[in-house]
Amino acid sequence: MNILLIGGGGREHSIAEALSKSSKINELHCIPGNAGIEKIASCHNYDISNQQEILNFCENNNIDIVFIGPEIPLVEGLADYLNRNSFFTFGPNQKAAKLEGSKSFTKDMCKKYNIPTATYETFSNAKDALVYIDNHSIPLVIKVDGLAAGKGVIIAETRDHAINSVNEIFSGKFGNAGDEIVIEEFLDGEEASYFIISDGESFIPLTSAQDHKRIGDGDIGLNTGGMGAYSPAPIMNKELEEKTINKIIKPTIKAMNDYGSPYIGILYAGLMIKDNEPKLIEYNVRFGDPECQVIIPRLENDLVELLVNVKEKNLDNYTLKWKENFAITVVLAAKGYPESYETGDEIKGLDAIGNIDDVEIFHAGTKTKNNKIVTSGGRVLNINGYGKNLVDAKEKAYSLVKKINWSGCYYRKDIGWRALKE
Ligand code: AMP
Ligand code: GLY
Repeated sequence: MNILLIGGGGREHSIAEALSKSSKINELHCIPGNAGIEKIASCHNYDISNQQEILNFCENNNIDIVFIGPEIPLVEGLADYLNRNSFFTFGPNQKAAKLEGSKSFTKDMCKKYNIPTATYETFSNAKDALVYIDNHSIPLVIKVDGLAAGKGVIIAETRDHAINSVNEIFSGKFGNAGDEIVIEEFLDGEEASYFIISDGESFIPLTSAQDHKRIGDGDIGLNTGGMGAYSPAPIMNKELEEKTINKIIKPTIKAMNDYGSPYIGILYAGLMIKDNEPKLIEYNVRFGDPECQVIIPRLENDLVELLVNVKEKNLDNYTLKWKENFAITVVLAAKGYPESYETGDEIKGLDAIGNIDDVEIFHAGTKTKNNKIVTSGGRVLNINGYGKNLVDAKEKAYSLVKKINWSGCYYRKDIGWRALKE
């Protein structure tokens, strides 16, 4: 099999690692990749939004499967474009990708199919939104409809904050992504992420993970793409899993079939859990980053074989096997992230991995410059630890974290705290 992987983050490095270990892989390509991926795949520096260039690449390299990692090319319709030209993509088409690309699309689907979620209303002008705020109690959650790089959700703790946010959005702060907004009820509880894989006809549950979205220890400060994660998430007991599948996942898969856009790829449900009941906060149409980095390494199956079974719509006859371990990942970020930060710093200590068991490094914002590995993004590295329990896995990960450095390296010291507290 010749596989093209789209993306260049830690998520894609963990996927590339699993693909490269497959007995079925012939050529592994990645657009654009990073300094870690280029050690195991041929990386090509094309723009992932240039669909024509990607199609040409597939044609010239006899690509069998295109694995699309990030949401932007999916929401832009890369899968549709390649499918029309006879290339199989692992990742949903543009209509199904609206599950992530449009909050109102997803909320309307939830309403129609009775999927438990926060009560909401959709607005396309500030005047009506302000009336709604006036008539509802605070806190309220305000969400821009389109993709906003994780910055389009505002938890308004005061009425003034809600009013200012609405005014800012309708003054163009988020461009077209903010042409519509959803305002919804604030849900309290504990968050968990749940993943399934679907071939358009059937689906199989993957596993659960928990992410740490805030920049600071104790889950305080600005929201980020994710500062660390672990899997499995102890909160997701069997009963909760069954409820999630029956009340949330199954009706969604049915809805996408009813809408004429069968769902192919990874579906990531962001859940809020309270009193052992799950509610859907949001969908993502791809693996989470950094959740992927703790899920893929726990999978025993050959990843290429799994993708072939998706391509052949054979998932109902396929069984997944998971390692009986825990995985944790700690994100090393550039100081200043998620706001402005510096790049180009040399990363030192990567060789320390040779001296520690049960650890792994996935690169995110890194590149090779003059034979050195330097930082090139906000989230730079993911340091994984594996163990028979979370305490063990955490110890392993942090023992390697302490050996790696560059000027301005920042990381959270409490990844896993919620699960460890329990
Ligand atoms: P989203 O992009 O929709 O996942 O939202 C980002 C984050 O905002 C979530 O991970 C939650 O922490 C928080 N959030 C979103 N919607 C709600 C809600 N209705 N109630 C409480 N927190 C929420
Ligand atoms: N870690 C959250 C996300 O990938 O959306």
